Amino acid sequence: PHVDPFDLVIFGGTGDLALRKLLPALFHRFVDGQVPAASRIIGVAREGLDDAGYRGLVRDVLADGGGASEQIDAFLPQLYYLPLDARKDEGWDTFAALVNEQPEHIRVFYLSTSPELFVDICNRLGANGLNGPNSRVVLEKPIGRDLASAMGIIEAVGRVFSEAQTFRIDHYLGKETVQNLLALRFGNALFEPLWNAGHIDHVQITVAETLGLGRRAGYYDRAGALRDMVQNHMLQLLCMVAMEPPASLSPDAVRDEKLKVLHALKPIDMRNSAQLTVRGQYKAGAIDGERVPGYLEELDDGQSSTETFVALKAEIANWRWAGVPFYLRTGKRLSARLSEIVVAFKSVPHSIFDATAGPLAQNRLVLRLQPDEGVKLWLTIKHPGPGGLRLRHVPLDMSFAEAFGVQQPDAYERLLLDVVRGNPTLFMRRDEVEAAWRWIDPILAAWGGAGELPRPYAAGSWGPSAAVALIERDGRTWNEDS
Ligand code: BG6
Repeated sequence: PHVDPFDLVIFGGTGDLALRKLLPALFHRFVDGQVPAASRIIGVAREGLDDAGYRGLVRDVLADGGGASEQIDAFLPQLYYLPLDARKDEGWDTFAALVNEQPEHIRVFYLSTSPELFVDICNRLGANGLNGPNSRVVLEKPIGRDLASAMGIIEAVGRVFSEAQTFRIDHYLGKETVQNLLALRFGNALFEPLWNAGHIDHVQITVAETLGLGRRAGYYDRAGALRDMVQNHMLQLLCMVAMEPPASLSPDAVRDEKLKVLHALKPIDMRNSAQLTVRGQYKAGAIDGERVPGYLEELDDGQSSTETFVALKAEIANWRWAGVPFYLRTGKRLSARLSEIVVAFKSVPHSIFDATAGPLAQNRLVLRLQPDEGVKLWLTIKHPGPGGLRLRHVPLDMSFAEAFGVQQPDAYERLLLDVVRGNPTLFMRRDEVEAAWRWIDPILAAWGGAGELPRPYAAGSWGPSAAVALIERDGRTWNEDS
C-alpha cells in the first residue's frame, strides 16, 4: 500500500531499541518500497556523531542482521543524525531548521528514551513549533513508573500534542499472532460460543526470554519485570484474549473493550499478593550449554532487589470470566525464548472410556507468538489401528511460516507505518495506560511493603520453583508441549 513521504525522528537514536528494532524495521519497510525516497530518518541523541558516523553505525547493525549490502547502501542516504540534549537549549534551532526543510511531510517524533525525558522533549518540540497538525509523537513503554508519574507525563505531553497525535506504542500489539487472535476469535463461529467461564478452565500467558540485561542495566534495574513486561505487553495480551467482541475494528471500539477488561481485573494487594504473585531474580547458570552470569554480576554495584521474573494469577471479575484464572509469567534468562497464549478448555463432563483407553486431557488452543508463529489446537483422538480404543492427544498444527511461506514482519514494521498513516487501533489510549497502572500499583506497594527479596532462579531454568507451585496448587500445570 502507498505511503506518503515522511520524516521520522528517533530520540534515543543510538540506543538499544533504535539499533536493535526500529532501524532494522525501517530498513525492511524500505526494501519493500514503503519508505518513499524523499523520506528522512533522523537519529537524535546526546552522542557527538555526524551523519556519516551514524550511517556507519547503522550499516554495521543492518549488515549483522543479514541485510544485502546494495540495499543497505541505498537506504543509508535517507539517514541523518543530530546531537541533541533534551535538557539543554543548544542545537534545538538547528534541529527545528532541519525538520522544517520538509514542511509537507508527516512528522513522527519517536521517543525511544527514558520516560523521564518525555516531557522535556515534548515541551521543546512545542516551543519550536514542531507540534503542528502533521506531527505525531510516539511514546515507548513503560510510560512512567507508577500511576502518578504516568498521569503526570500523559498530561504534560497532552499540553503539546493532542490525543489523536499521540501514539503510545506496545509492540506486542503489532505481533502477527496477536492480530491473528482477532481473526481467530471473531472470524470463526467455532470459538466464541465456548469463550467463557462455562467452557474455559484457565488461560496461561508466557513470555520467556533467554536474553539478560544487555546494554540496558540503567533502565532495567529501575524498572523490573512487572513494569517492563506485565504492565504493558502481558496485560495487553490478556485484554485481547478476554475482551468482549468490539462492534468493529475502529480504534475506539477495540480500545473501549480492552479498557473494560482492565477495569474488571480483581485487585492484587497486600492482602493476597503473597498467594497470587511470585518474583524472581536470575543467578548464574547455563543457557544452551553456555555459562551466563547472574543478574547481580551484570550490575556495576552488584546490588539490587529488582525482579527479572514475575508469575502471577489474575482474575477478571465479570460474567464472562468469573472464576477463570489467568496465569501470567515472564522472565529474562529462562530456558528458551518462547511466547505463547494457552487457552485450556474444561474437561468433558463424563468419560465413556475405560481405564485402558488412557487418560482424557483438556483441549488446549495454543497461540504461539514466537519463535515460529502459529496456532495449535490439541484434540483427543483414537490411536490408529487395532488394539482397542486408546486415546491420544495430538495437535492440529498450523505454522504460519509453513502455511504461507513468508517470513513474518517484525511488530515494529507494522506499527511504525500505522503511525505514519495515522491509525491508532493498535496503540494504547491514555485511559488504558492509566487503568493498567491502577492495577499494578498495589502489587508494587505490596512487594515494597513486604520487603522480601526476589526468589533466586538459575539462568536457563523456568524461573523459581514457587512459580510452578503457584499453578500446581490449583491442580494445573504450565504448558510444556507447545
Ligand atoms: C520490551 C522490553 O518491551 O520487550 C524488553 O522492554 C524485552 O525487556 C522486549 O526484551 C521483548 O520483546 P520481543 O519482541 O523480543 O518479545
